[in-house]
Parts: sequence; C-alpha cells; structure tokens
Amino acid sequence: MAEDLNILKGTKEEQYKSLIPQIQALVQGETNRIANMANVCAALKEQFHFLWVGFYIVEGDELVLGPFQGPVACTRIGLGRGVCGAAWEKEASIIVPDVEAFPGHIACSSLSKSEIVIPVWEGNTCIGILDVDSDRLNDFDLVDLKNLEDIVKIFNKS
Ligand code: SME
Repeated sequence: MAEDLNILKGTKEEQYKSLIPQIQALVQGETNRIANMANVCAALKEQFHFLWVGFYIVEGDELVLGPFQGPVACTRIGLGRGVCGAAWEKEASIIVPDVEAFPGHIACSSLSKSEIVIPVWEGNTCIGILDVDSDRLNDFDLVDLKNLEDIVKIFNKS
C-alpha cells in the first residue's frame, strides 16, 4: 500500500537523497513495470514539480508514450528523432540546457525550455527512456543526471 511521500525542502542533492529510498520502497515487491514507472513519475513530479516527467517505452522501432505526469504529449517517437530518440539511438543520457538549440527537438509543450533524458535498461537492453522537461532554461545538471540514472536502475533486473 503506497504511503504519502515525505517531501523535503532542501538542495537538489538533499531532495534526491530523501526521495530515492522512498521510490525504492514504492517499487519494492511490485513486478509490473508500468505500475512502477507510474509511481516514479508521481514521486518525481511531487518532489520537484517538473513541467513534465514520463517514460517512453521501446516498441519495435519506436518509442511509445508510457506513464507520465504533465501536459499531454506525443505518443510515438522514432529512433534518432528528438531528444528521446537520440538518447535511445546513442544509448546515452542527454542534458539539453535550451531545447530550442537542440536540432530536431520535439516540442510536446511550448512551455518546455530545458530537458534531460535517461535510457532505461533491463539487463543490457534499452527498454525505454525517462524524459524530464522543465519550464526553466538550463534547469538540469550532473546532480540530476546521476540521481535519475540511479532511479531508473530499479528497472534493471540484471
Ligand atoms: N521533447 C521530447 C519529446 C517528448 S515531450 O517532451 C514529452 C523529444 O524531443 O524527444
């Protein structure tokens, strides 16, 4: 049974340090990937109030929209397209300080100004992308990168 989150006011690092054990508790014992992705999105949104946070899931040669929190979003992204498709193709996280400066950025919301995307692994296979958008320029840094990469490791069953 999910409990209310303890939402911390503090530095970004302090907030992640408080949130990650709570996320681990939320997903513990739950084997359904969609349910866990949904709770990860809700926890990140509640703690950080990101404009948009969600998962795109690999389905054949496309990324298909999965659980998310925020404005409505495009449902399918091809390999190499946009920031998400680029991260999937490169199999690497990407920080975008200014989305308007990213060639081919897909603007699901005109409010999005900066973005970070993180590949989600199961074993050695990329099964999706965690996408986080901010309505502020240059809102993401290496603290976000490291902690969000730690968070998505919960899906890696290797
Ligand atoms: N900006 C992403 C598309 C997904 S929406 O932001 C939710 C991209 O360029 O891949």
